[in-house]
Amino acid sequence: MAATSKKIRLGVLFGGRSGEHDVSLVSAASVMEALLDHEEFEIIAIGLTRAGGLADEDELRAMLPGGLRDRVRLCTSIEAAGSGMRVLPNPPAIGRENGVMPEIIFPLLHGTYGEDGTVQGLFEIADIPYVGCGVLASAVAMDKDVVKRLWAGEGLPVTPWITARAGDIAANPAEIRRMAEKAFGYPMFSKPANLGSSVGVHKIHDETEFYDALRDSARYDRKVLIEKGIDAREIECAILGNDDPKASVTGEVLPAGEFYDYEAKYVRKESRLEIPANIDGEKAEEIRTLAVRAFRAIDGAGLARVDFFLEKETGEILINEINTMPGFTPISMYSKLWASSGVPFPDLVRRLIGLGKQRFEEKSARKTDRR
Ligand SMILES: Nc1ncnc2c1ncn2[C@@H]1O[C@H](COP(=O)(O)OP(=O)(O)O)[C@@H](O)[C@H]1O
Ligand SMILES: [Mg+2]
Repeated sequence: MAATSKKIRLGVLFGGRSGEHDVSLVSAASVMEALLDHEEFEIIAIGLTRAGGLADEDELRAMLPGGLRDRVRLCTSIEAAGSGMRVLPNPPAIGRENGVMPEIIFPLLHGTYGEDGTVQGLFEIADIPYVGCGVLASAVAMDKDVVKRLWAGEGLPVTPWITARAGDIAANPAEIRRMAEKAFGYPMFSKPANLGSSVGVHKIHDETEFYDALRDSARYDRKVLIEKGIDAREIECAILGNDDPKASVTGEVLPAGEFYDYEAKYVRKESRLEIPANIDGEKAEEIRTLAVRAFRAIDGAGLARVDFFLEKETGEILINEINTMPGFTPISMYSKLWASSGVPFPDLVRRLIGLGKQRFEEKSARKTDRR
């Protein structure tokens, strides 16, 4: 009995209103699978539908692989909170029989409404500890324009870019084309500022492709980045920690196809990860140092994966982006980088939970007014 009372009640939140809904289901299932064999966890599954609502029992069961459905607690109701703003899984709603509520939530949500600070804000209001980056770091990392300004301000190397508003793209595309051609020449890339999974990302080979690419990127966001096309190897590095973040070994993505587009990420089997990356030791060290600096610059917490371009011709390193909730299955780059750095998957999850709790406790101990 004593042992069960010590169990960590981990809420795993997944699904949601994002283009990466399905990726989230896979991440969540693998985290739950990996933890179920460990006595210390009691897992509470919380599913969000594609429409953004809390999944009911049938929906939640359908979101979970068969083997999991009966081994986790299903959280399927949220009742209006009695007082204050404790809106997300509030105590009476979960495990009513014995008042069980998650001690900490792992938001395995990727992309919009999950990785962008919005759900983190909800946790803050509800006073619930959670795994990973806070509101600001999540939001900043999600906006490729803002994060690059922040990094550039810190003197960190980023791919040269121009940001265009959707309105300007519609009103004055020729002007934008002239500007981009003058700044970079071809090839260029266009991408929505806030998205992921390469959705809306285009390689622009010449001027005939320019307008269509920009228009498509602008379908996804008010802001579109136009970047210099870098002929580069793609190297990634995983970060773990709060105030003293550590960098993993580096890994390389070898995409099937011309660049790491949606197909190459999720459909084509020929895409490969190589861990550790086959690059020289000094470059790897430089990348690891930059990854930590990139993480600190956004005031990250818990985890992130920092993605780099290593320019083939010059050996120059550029930070491409940071993902505050990277793909998190045991075979994802993030977890494999840590496994290869001596932190196996269950330990990784345990550490992340510890970091989330530590951050919450530190914050709770801090004064919020002058009394
Ligand atoms: N400036 C660039 N130069 C070369 N390749 C790029 C550039 N920008 C993006 N790419 C390619 O497109 C992929 C997706 O772009 P990225 O900015 O990482 O967006 P996402 O958030 O969708 O992953 C990258 O992994 C890379 O293959
Ligand atoms: Mg990317």
